[in-house]
Amino acid sequence: MNVLLIGSGGREHALAWKLKQSPLLGKLHCIPGSAAISALAACPPVKQEDHDGIYGYCLAQNITLVVIGPEAPLAAGLTDFLTGKGIKVFGPSQKGAMLEASKQFAKEFMERNNIPTAEFSVLFSAAFAREKIAANKKYPVVIKADGLAAGKGVRICASEAEALAAVEDFMQKRVFGSAGSIVVMEEFLTGREASVMALTDGESALLLPAARDHKRLLDGDKGPNTGGMGAVCPVEISEEDMEIVRTEVIGRFLAGLKKERITFRGVIYAGLMFTPEGPRTLEFNVRFGDPETQAVMPLIKSDLLPALAACAEGRLEGRELELAHGACVTVVAASAGYPEAPETGKAITGLYDQPSGVQVFHSGTAGRDGAYFSAGGRVLSVTARGKDAQDARRKAYAALSGIKFEGMQYRRDIGL
Ligand code: AMP
Ligand code: GLY
Repeated sequence: MNVLLIGSGGREHALAWKLKQSPLLGKLHCIPGSAAISALAACPPVKQEDHDGIYGYCLAQNITLVVIGPEAPLAAGLTDFLTGKGIKVFGPSQKGAMLEASKQFAKEFMERNNIPTAEFSVLFSAAFAREKIAANKKYPVVIKADGLAAGKGVRICASEAEALAAVEDFMQKRVFGSAGSIVVMEEFLTGREASVMALTDGESALLLPAARDHKRLLDGDKGPNTGGMGAVCPVEISEEDMEIVRTEVIGRFLAGLKKERITFRGVIYAGLMFTPEGPRTLEFNVRFGDPETQAVMPLIKSDLLPALAACAEGRLEGRELELAHGACVTVVAASAGYPEAPETGKAITGLYDQPSGVQVFHSGTAGRDGAYFSAGGRVLSVTARGKDAQDARRKAYAALSGIKFEGMQYRRDIGL
C-alpha cells in the first residue's frame, strides 16, 4: 500500500514513524512533510492547499490511501475532493470537519444529539453579546470564538469586564479575523481534563487510550494557552466514566452522524472535562491531537495502517488494536518567545543516539547540511515510553537534558 500523509508537524512525524513500521506499507509519501519526515517519506514540492496537485501526485505515485493530519485541509474539503475522484482518504468530509471549524455547529450538534456538554448560548452580534453578558450572573464564564483560532480562541473570563473585553477583541477588533464573527458563551466547568480519540468509519468506533495534554505555557498550568506543551498517555479514568464516554459521547456522536448524513471516516477527538456530575464534552477535534499523538502512537502495538485503511473503506467493525504495556510522556521543547513571537533559526544539538524507547519527533525544525535548526514555536516533541508514567517522565526529561538550542523552553511537570 502506498500512503500519502498530509501535514508537517510533530503529529505527522509520529504518524509517519508508526506507519513506516507497517509490513503492508509500500512507499510512504508526505505533503508538505518536513526535513525530519523526509528521512521516512518522500516529500515532493506540492502544497497542502493545492488539491489538484495532490490528486495528480496520487495518480502518479499510485497512492492507495491518503491520511490527513491537520484540520485546515479537512475544513477546506480535501477529503471530499479526493474521494470524489475515487481516492481513499482517512479524514472526515468538509461537513464533518465543521465539528471543529465551528464551535456553534459543534455545540448545536451536541445539543441535537444529547451529547453531554456545557450549557451555552450562541451570540451572533456584539450588541446581543453585551446584552447576554449583562444578564449573566455566574462567573467565571467561557467565551469562545466560533472559528479556527489555533487553540487560542477560548477565554475564561472571571468578570463581566473580562467577558466584554473578549467580545470586543473577538467580534469588533477581530483578533482572529472572521473566526470571531460569532462567539459562543459557555458555562464554566471544573474537574479533570482528558482527551479520548477514536478511529471511526462513521458506523463503529475504536477508542484509543485516553491522553492528557498540557495547554498552558508554564509549570503548574500557568501562563498563556499554547498549542500544547506536552502530553501523557494513558490517564486513569474510572470504568464508569469511560462507559459514559463510550455510549453518551462517542456513541451519540456516531448516531448524530447517521441522522445528519455526515460522512466521517477518520479520527474524532473528544476534549473532555470529568466534572463531579460526570463527563462533559468541551470540544471536538476532527483529527489526531498534537501533541497527544506523539504520546499515543508508541503505545499502539498493532499495525496502525490496516486500521486506518479500514476506516477509509468503511469496514472498521470488529477491528481491535493491541496496546503496549506502560505509559508514554511527550515533552515539547519550544522556542524562546513562544507563543507570541517565537525566535527561530537556532541550531539544535544532541538529537541523535537516543536510548531505546525514546523518540524525538520534530514539531518545527528545518534541516540544512545534515543539521537541524528551530523553525517554529513548538520545535521538538521528546517522547519516552516507560513501565509507568513516572518512568516515562524520567526517561523523557533525561533525553531532553542532552538536547539544546538557544532559548529552548519546556515545562518540568508534564505527566506529574
Ligand atoms: P477548547 O479549545 O474548547 O478545548 O478550550 C481550550 C481549553 O479551555 C480547554 O482545554 C479547557 O481547559 C478550557 N475550557 C474550554 N471550555 C471550558 C469550559 N466550559 N469550562 C472550563 N474550561 C473550559
Ligand atoms: N492538543 C490539542 C489539539 O490537538 O487540539
